[in-house]
Amino acid sequence: MPPRVCVTGGGGYVASWLIKLLLSRGYAVHATLRDPCDPKNAHLMRLDGAAANLRLFKADVLDHAALAAAVAGCEGVFHVASPVPADKIVNPETEVMIPAVKGTLNILQACSSMKVQKVVVVSSTSALHFNPNWPKGKPKDESCWSDRKICIDHELWYCAAKTVAEETALEYAEKNGLNVITACPCIVFGPQLQPIVNTSSELLIYVLKGGPNALKDMLWHVVDVRDVADALLLVYEKPESFGRYLCAPDYITTRALLELLKKTYPDYNYVRCKAGGDLNAIITPFSSEKLRNLGWKPRELEETLLDSIEYYREMGILQNVEAQTCRLPDLFRHLHAAEE
Ligand SMILES: NC(=O)c1ccc[n+]([C@@H]2O[C@H](COP(=O)([O-])OP(=O)(O)OC[C@H]3O[C@@H](n4cnc5c(N)ncnc54)[C@H](OP(=O)(O)O)[C@@H]3O)[C@@H](O)[C@H]2O)c1
Repeated sequence: MPPRVCVTGGGGYVASWLIKLLLSRGYAVHATLRDPCDPKNAHLMRLDGAAANLRLFKADVLDHAALAAAVAGCEGVFHVASPVPADKIVNPETEVMIPAVKGTLNILQACSSMKVQKVVVVSSTSALHFNPNWPKGKPKDESCWSDRKICIDHELWYCAAKTVAEETALEYAEKNGLNVITACPCIVFGPQLQPIVNTSSELLIYVLKGGPNALKDMLWHVVDVRDVADALLLVYEKPESFGRYLCAPDYITTRALLELLKKTYPDYNYVRCKAGGDLNAIITPFSSEKLRNLGWKPRELEETLLDSIEYYREMGILQNVEAQTCRLPDLFRHLHAAEE
């Protein structure tokens, strides 16, 4: 009998690569989807091994009974589902806070009741970024947490939701004796398996197409989607993994990113870049040493960027379509947009 695991939000960018990896390693996978019949999820059943080893379950993260049915019989769960909105958030409670925080609690409760042995929860470096007390210049590690009040005061609702959701997951684990690991990826780029452009890919597309507003020259922390999938499986499979894992192997400034891309692809419009202040003051580097010590070997940033662009080119995503605006996802506005 193959080991059986559940992946929530299975049709999304990160989850699709994770499911592909799990199937290739001989796992039987239960994937939860809000709408298994939506054509945007059709890629999943076309993955190698899906016919034999992938089962789709209809479940919103706010639906206890549906989550319990999906988790039943699984020894492990990967909780990936969480809204990553590209549009400006109008109602933070319903759009991000409740699905992220209550959704995490619901899946953990389902895991406890179904005797799941290990749970990996996908958090984000958003749950670390906003910490004014962190020593300037010191690489941020797993002991660094975003200040939820600062996130809320600045209306950084996604960051607030990811911070509270991760805190809630680790508190739940402690109180209820559930083996929970959290993983915090930075901005994820790389080719897509799903047909819909996800929010982080939209940021790189904005850079290439030369969106209307300039970006700040700042540090970008980037991880490859395939390396995130590897990291999630690694922390799941290693019996010695514990607590939180930062998943942010590389960084580059906006200016260096533009130079690197223009070397290979000189003909795109490219976004304008405005000089910023002290780069360290904007974002201090992250350390992924804990994950590397577990055996994580992420690829080079250049490979991630070039593979992403090759994918966009193949799919015709970079073609300029009349009347189609190129937007900077609102999620990235606070850190990335330059003052005009
Ligand atoms: N991409 C990044 O740069 C990045 C960086 C750090 C962390 N992360 C984290 O990685 C995870 C996956 O993100 P992604 O980039 O793969 O985004 P994505 O492609 O938008 O996937 C998000 C998934 O969450 C599901 N979801 C949202 N609300 C839900 C709800 N109420 N019930 C059930 N499912 C729900 C979505 O399902 P529908 O298709 O039904 O909407 C979708 O499958 C998230 O936890 C995100 O916070 C992403």
